[in-house]
Parts: sequence; structure tokens; C-alpha cells
Amino acid sequence: MSDDIFSGSSGQQGILTNSVLPMDQEPEIVSLRPERLHDYIGQAEVLETLAIAIEAAQQRGEALEHVLFHGPPGLGKTTLAHIIANEMNTRMVVTSGPALEKGGDLIGMLTHLETGDVLFIDEIHRTPKTVEELLYPAMEDFSIDFIFDKGIHARSHRFQLKQFTLVGATTRVGLLSAPLRDRFGLFRSLDFYNTADLEKIVRRSAALLGLDIDTAGACSLAKRSRGTPRIINRLLKRARDYAQVRADGRITEKTVTEALGLEGVDDVGLTPLDRRYLLTVIHYYNGGPVGIEAVAATLQEETDTLVDVVEPFLLKIGFIMRTAAGRRASDQAYRHLGLEKREGK
Ligand code: ADE
Repeated sequence: MSDDIFSGSSGQQGILTNSVLPMDQEPEIVSLRPERLHDYIGQAEVLETLAIAIEAAQQRGEALEHVLFHGPPGLGKTTLAHIIANEMNTRMVVTSGPALEKGGDLIGMLTHLETGDVLFIDEIHRTPKTVEELLYPAMEDFSIDFIFDKGIHARSHRFQLKQFTLVGATTRVGLLSAPLRDRFGLFRSLDFYNTADLEKIVRRSAALLGLDIDTAGACSLAKRSRGTPRIINRLLKRARDYAQVRADGRITEKTVTEALGLEGVDDVGLTPLDRRYLLTVIHYYNGGPVGIEAVAATLQEETDTLVDVVEPFLLKIGFIMRTAAGRRASDQAYRHLGLEKREGK
């Protein structure tokens, strides 16, 4: 792969540079992602940790230590990886655990990294074991061992890499092996955002998109975005379309309520899938406890989708509980759905 290859978010993997793109290659849509630490809203402790580590590494003239981000989708793991590269003034190579099928896929990337470059591996918990084992010496000693031949003829050759920074992102830190986890110098979990931060994020996004939004409109979007910046930005665009076509273009509480009603998003931000999940636990399994595999089979959804996307927020707002015996719907969930709990449950 040559160094001038650029791959946007649509590409599986490639090199992102900090250089200005020619006009015809510029992404068409306005990026709502903050590019620098000072633009980032929320996750104050994570930002503080990063700001200190980045400044310290720069003072020492070293690459930043390897960083692992954990948390549900849409909370900013990829955005923070981009910010690290921007703040360190280096390039970023983007890939993901499932895309690294063979050792050669990783070796090709590692050997092209320059000093200080960021290698971002999304869904790092899905990296195949054989590839993961190559990462250990790469992370620890910045070297990789090539093995030639087999049995008594086996010889190995050590290849020295440049000092790079691995940024890993995972929704399931429990699935990461201990040797991999232990090789990260910085490990931070991203939590759901509070309503005040989400309001600031949606106001910033609205300003970047040139939209007129009032306080009640911003507040209403914040309350219905499942604590997630990616969701609030998506809902903002639905409200923008609705306000443009069915109203005077201004995003207000009324236009948000009407637009999100069409999306099936309710007043606490539950989506049709969230409600189907809760109704399955309640109606099919009498409120639980029920195993996640059984819920997934009934809903005909992937278990991973339920565990990574649906459950974290329902757990956060106390609508479900995870017990040793399985998932249970809480009293709050029954109340929210307007359902009576059956006696004895
Ligand atoms: N856009 C998406 N996430 C954001 C964040 N945390 N801060 C500012 N803008 C954002």
C-alpha cells in the first residue's frame, strides 16, 4: 500500500492523512466529529487523561502509549482515535479486528507505519487469535517475528518496526484476552453522555449544519438520544428534514416530537427494537429471568446486536437487570410500557 492512499470511513482500511484534500476529494457532508480535544464535549475524565498523556509524550519526543477504549457504539471511540492522531500531528491507519483475517494483513500495515503513527483497530475483540499473537511483540518491543519453514528447519527473522501507537476500540472488553489487554498503557471506558452534554453536542452540530434550533428542541433531542452522540446527530437530521418539509425549517419541540414519532423513537429514546426486546422478555418469558440466546432466537436478531447495541442503554436506565439466571424486566420497564406486572413475578 502506498503512503498516499486515502481511505474515508467507507473503506475497510487505509491511511488517513492530516493533509488538506483536493477539493474534488473532500467529503461532501459536513463532518460533525470534533477534530481536537478542545472541541470535544463530555467524557471530561477521559479527555483529561488523554491531554496529559499526549502532552507528556510530546515533551519526551515519544509516540503516545497504546490506548484501549471500551464502551457501547456511538460514544466516540473512533472520534477520539482521530483526535489522538490530530493532536500528535501524525497519520492514522484504520482497520478492524474482523478485517484482519490473516497475519499478512496486519504485517502489511505495521511495516508501513512511520514513527508516531496511530494504528486504529476497531472491534479489536474480534481479531483472530493468530493475528492477535503478532500484536504482542509489535506492541511491546515494536518488532515482529517472521517464521520461515517448519519443524527442525524453522528459522525466524526479527523485523524492527517504528514506534507507533495502537488505539484499540471494543464494545466487549471481557472478550479481550489478558495478554492483549495488559499491553495497553491507557485504558478508558466511555459512558453514556448526560442530557446537558448532549444538548451542547446537538447545538454544535446544528450550528455546523446551519440549522435553527430552539432550546426546547435541543432538550427534546437530548432526552431521546439514548445518551449517544451518534444517535443525536442522526435524529437531528431527521428533525431537520421534517422541519424543512412540514414546517418553517425551525427545529422546535413540536417538530422533534413529530419527526421522532415517525421514527418510532419514544419519549425516553427507546426504538422499536428496544421495545420488541422488552415485550419479548415480558410476554414470552413472563418478565424473565431469560437467557439472551432465547431472546435473540425469539426476536430473530443477532445475540451480538442485542448485547452490544440494545442492552447497555436498557441496563443504564434500569429497564432490565442481568442476573446469574438471565435477563429480567424491571418494574420501571412495565410502567414505561403501560403494562401490569402479573402476580407472583
Ligand atoms: N459530535 C459527536 N460527538 C461529539 C462530542 N463528544 N463533542 C462534540 N461534538 C461531537
